[in-house]
Amino acid sequence: MLMIKKIILTGFKNHPSGSYSFEQPVVGICGKNGIGKTNLLDSVYYCCFTKSYFQSIDAQNIGFGEPGFRLEGHFERGDTREKLVCINRAGSKKELYLNDIPYEKLSQHIGRFCCVMIAPDDIDLINGTGELRRKFLDVLICQLDASYLLDLNAYNKILQQRNSLLRNEHKNGVGDETLLDILDGQLARYGDRVFQKRLEIFNEIHPKILSHYMGIAAHENQIRIRYESKLHGTDMLQCLKSNRQKDLILQRTNSGIHRDDLIFEWNTQPFKNIASQGQKKSLLFSLKLAEYEMLLEKTGQTPILLLDDVFEKLDSERMTNLLEVVCKKHKGQVIITDTHPERLTGVMESLNIGIQLIKLQ
Ligand SMILES: Nc1ncnc2c1ncn2[C@@H]1O[C@H](COP(=O)(O)OP(=O)(O)OP(=O)(O)O)[C@@H](O)[C@H]1O
Ligand SMILES: [Mg+2]
Repeated sequence: MLMIKKIILTGFKNHPSGSYSFEQPVVGICGKNGIGKTNLLDSVYYCCFTKSYFQSIDAQNIGFGEPGFRLEGHFERGDTREKLVCINRAGSKKELYLNDIPYEKLSQHIGRFCCVMIAPDDIDLINGTGELRRKFLDVLICQLDASYLLDLNAYNKILQQRNSLLRNEHKNGVGDETLLDILDGQLARYGDRVFQKRLEIFNEIHPKILSHYMGIAAHENQIRIRYESKLHGTDMLQCLKSNRQKDLILQRTNSGIHRDDLIFEWNTQPFKNIASQGQKKSLLFSLKLAEYEMLLEKTGQTPILLLDDVFEKLDSERMTNLLEVVCKKHKGQVIITDTHPERLTGVMESLNIGIQLIKLQ
């Protein structure tokens, strides 16, 4: 079992300094609105992913008026203890150390400590744009396959180069397309690999999502989930070739894995247009639970589950179901934020699960 046992924060958002020990598998973080519960939860996520779940601009994670932040996470996996230190000084490169040894690349760390977050805005996974659903798949795959993130980063870099070339060719008139051919070759190499990996993982996670959904929303078997990509039945190079004229006119790359999506349908209609709030929440929990189980199966370790304000804004009934699976069946670590300690303890008592409360003030 993977556990975070302690976290020490310095200059991280509204935590100038603080040290918190997690002594039981289930920990509740309580305190009034704005006190820093979500930020503390996010610091755990940060130690796993070297980035915030909520704030992608790193400068905004540094406490106001602080020169930078430092996070120190103490993890335990069976008998092994590991210490992760992340230092982010304003304006300089992020530093990351595992047991005092620096990482050369931050990407090498992803997947070492697996973790799943559920936060109120995650309902956008159902209602929002495809970018969020691609990110859902990508975050999962990155934790399982170290080369995936490298391929994805390489793809995005070449995609930017290709797009700026398309803009330049438009401005200066289309001349020699040799450079475009070279970039297409490179983009195709990474694009095909990303597609194959996404398809493989989608095929595995798909039945898990459906079975959780039907478990939560009994007898609702009208839901369909598809992995949408232009690369089905072809390859990236072919795709780029057949879209080149369009790309030259529109000055951007119109096809490729950067346009992939997960499509949720309800009786052939878009799920988000038809489903009720409750059905959307059921689907969200099914996606997250499937992600959790997939990480568990592939790594043999329970991921750390981080739950932000789920009782308040998401759902208490579905939460109880999820806690039952995670805490009782898998015996994984769970950290939950809530403004109401008595609500948390009440739910845990009804499930017969012990909880350690941390009160922020
Ligand atoms: N970079 C920063 N430096 C200092 N304070 C910050 C920074 N970023 C955010 N904050 C502060 O952190 C506070 C919010 O903390 P957080 O979201 O963790 O609260 P919370 O306890 O989860 O509240 P709620 O119960 O409303 O969800 C805000 O008051 C905000 O001003
Ligand atoms: Mg909060």
